[in-house]
Amino acid sequence: MTYRVFISDPLSEDGIYPLQEADDMEVVQETDLTNEQLHERLTDYDALLVRSQTKVTRELIENAHRLKVIGRAGVGVDNIDLEAATEYGIMVVNAPDGNTNSAAEHTMAMLASLARNIPQADAALKQNRWDRKAYVGVEMKGKTLGIVGLGRVGAEVAARAQGQRMNVIAYDPFLTAEQADNLGIRSGSVADVLQAADFITAHTPLLNETKHIINKEAFEQMKDGVRIVNCARGGIIDEDALYEAIINQKVAGAGLDVFEEEPVYDHKLLELPEVIATPHLGASTVEAQRNVAIDVSNDVVTILRGGVTQNA
Ligand code: MLT
Repeated sequence: MTYRVFISDPLSEDGIYPLQEADDMEVVQETDLTNEQLHERLTDYDALLVRSQTKVTRELIENAHRLKVIGRAGVGVDNIDLEAATEYGIMVVNAPDGNTNSAAEHTMAMLASLARNIPQADAALKQNRWDRKAYVGVEMKGKTLGIVGLGRVGAEVAARAQGQRMNVIAYDPFLTAEQADNLGIRSGSVADVLQAADFITAHTPLLNETKHIINKEAFEQMKDGVRIVNCARGGIIDEDALYEAIINQKVAGAGLDVFEEEPVYDHKLLELPEVIATPHLGASTVEAQRNVAIDVSNDVVTILRGGVTQNA
């Protein structure tokens, strides 16, 4: 039996070799398709592999009569209609481990860039402005990093921040006092984290409970001059509240890799010099993309052959 696998987003070439090497898999990759084109293509495929660009809607799922599994090369499955997939008996599998390091490293890069105004100083210098006064930064050493969500990425960020000799306080509903002790960090409520931190970084998934967890009231509890990073999911921070908090000088800087609506153009936050931003690049490294593509390809092969995987 030959299984047909469709890849609709750019995935690492190296990463999809488990699929390409399998004798019983026929792999087709076509990216940048319109919704209509994707609907047409998917009618006779057994598996669909996506990153975050393809929106796997109910309509798409309803029309894909042969589809058995959707593989998401990455962690977040918020671009997939899970309810519809479950209704139609389609398995959804993600790759939760492969991009942890890259996301943590991107977060650290954001924190350091915010502390030292690197993107702003770089932009000024390239416009022939040698301005040393405007870009005086702050040290990270001895400052408190507040982490909201201490899962895989949050824990890696904590370890790296300790390497920068920062103090770490974290909120996570599953973090026990004993685990916090073992990690050499403090655990606290969201309010404890917001009140204690000089830098804050969010690492939760986007759920009903975490949507706008950093909102107007949260900003009011923070220290003046706090710096905040979101490399997790747009919507964790209320963007209007962040805008106000920057204008009111409560927040000295924000590093954003993710937005409530993506892709983002002409956003009011991007007009503020205190904001540095990247277009959802947290997992965009050669290593992470290879890792997640390998993980999800292996899982798709296993599932199509009738096996069981951990990440489904
Ligand atoms: C993820 O969910 O894995 C990340 O946001 C990375 C991505 O989608 O590119």
